[in-house]
Amino acid sequence: MGEPEPSRLVEEILALGEVFRGEVAPLKDEQELRAAQARFLGKKGSLSELMKRMGSLPPAERPRVGEAANRVKQLIEEEVARKLLRISALRRKRDLERLVDVTLPGRTTPNGHLHILTQVRRELCAIFAELGFEVATGPQVETDFHNFEALAMPADHPARDMQDTFYVGDGAGTLLRTHTSPVQIRTMLTRKPPLAIIAPGVVYRRDDDPTHSPMFTQLEGLCVDKGIRMSDLKGVLLHFVQRFFGPGLGLRFRASYFPFVEPGAEVDMRCSFCHGARSDCRLCKGSGWLEIGGAGMVDPRVFEQVGIDATAVSGFAFGMGLERMAMLRHGIHDIKLAYEGDLRFARQF
Ligand code: PHE
Repeated sequence: MGEPEPSRLVEEILALGEVFRGEVAPLKDEQELRAAQARFLGKKGSLSELMKRMGSLPPAERPRVGEAANRVKQLIEEEVARKLLRISALRRKRDLERLVDVTLPGRTTPNGHLHILTQVRRELCAIFAELGFEVATGPQVETDFHNFEALAMPADHPARDMQDTFYVGDGAGTLLRTHTSPVQIRTMLTRKPPLAIIAPGVVYRRDDDPTHSPMFTQLEGLCVDKGIRMSDLKGVLLHFVQRFFGPGLGLRFRASYFPFVEPGAEVDMRCSFCHGARSDCRLCKGSGWLEIGGAGMVDPRVFEQVGIDATAVSGFAFGMGLERMAMLRHGIHDIKLAYEGDLRFARQF
């Protein structure tokens, strides 16, 4: 027969400490260490297994076994604490030894930038702000009154053909605005002269080709005060052209018809590419001029619609397409490029 059972059990228990130390000696990782600790001290670990045998011992022997178990538990826990310290010291050492060039620039996330049309809109607003124009806005879904009627385009007016639009609902009274001129009407209905506003915004028309889109952006201007003359209009537009397209560019008015202005004009600027010097210029097609918008003196019938005394004040109005301004400045040939969201396009501006 070997030793009596109690002594053997105590020895086996105490031996666990050495076995544990041997097992964890090569470990370099906290997780592995914790797993080893659980294998020895966990609910189903080696120590618990040995302790099961305590039940068959005479009660007088049990305290010795319990003491041994406590001792080995403490030993193992101390060993774990020691190992943990060593592991973290090792990790720190490895971190410090790693070759890192702290002078290298960090990785940055690329910043986006404003869309070309947003850039152009903001720039135009800033240019007109220099002359005292305020920005005014209005709804894109408009009434027939604000979009046509008040602008001297009654229901049967032929000028409506050029601004066919999208109607909303059953009646013909609600529509997607075809220009931002209704903002001028809304402004004059709520405020009295002197007025100087610009109305940038999205408008809609039944148009679709490389230079026209069913949805596009306009910027219109309105100035009403005592003694406003056509030369004021020309001066304002000249300032805009020279600030936006380049100094020295000239301007010309060509007589034209818009129901809401009299006299009315198409506005051309000198070709910013050839300055009128090349008969084969692709931008101006050899004409030397580029059309940039429409303009004129506010028709007295419009003042009448909004309750302004046309004998006391006068005013001018103008309108232009933002996309066209961007296209002329940057040589963009297809208006759709501005809406497709292709980054190869967007990044160029
Ligand atoms: N509202 C006109 C259009 O969209 C532009 C314009 C504005 C013309 C003011 C003359 C005066 O076609």
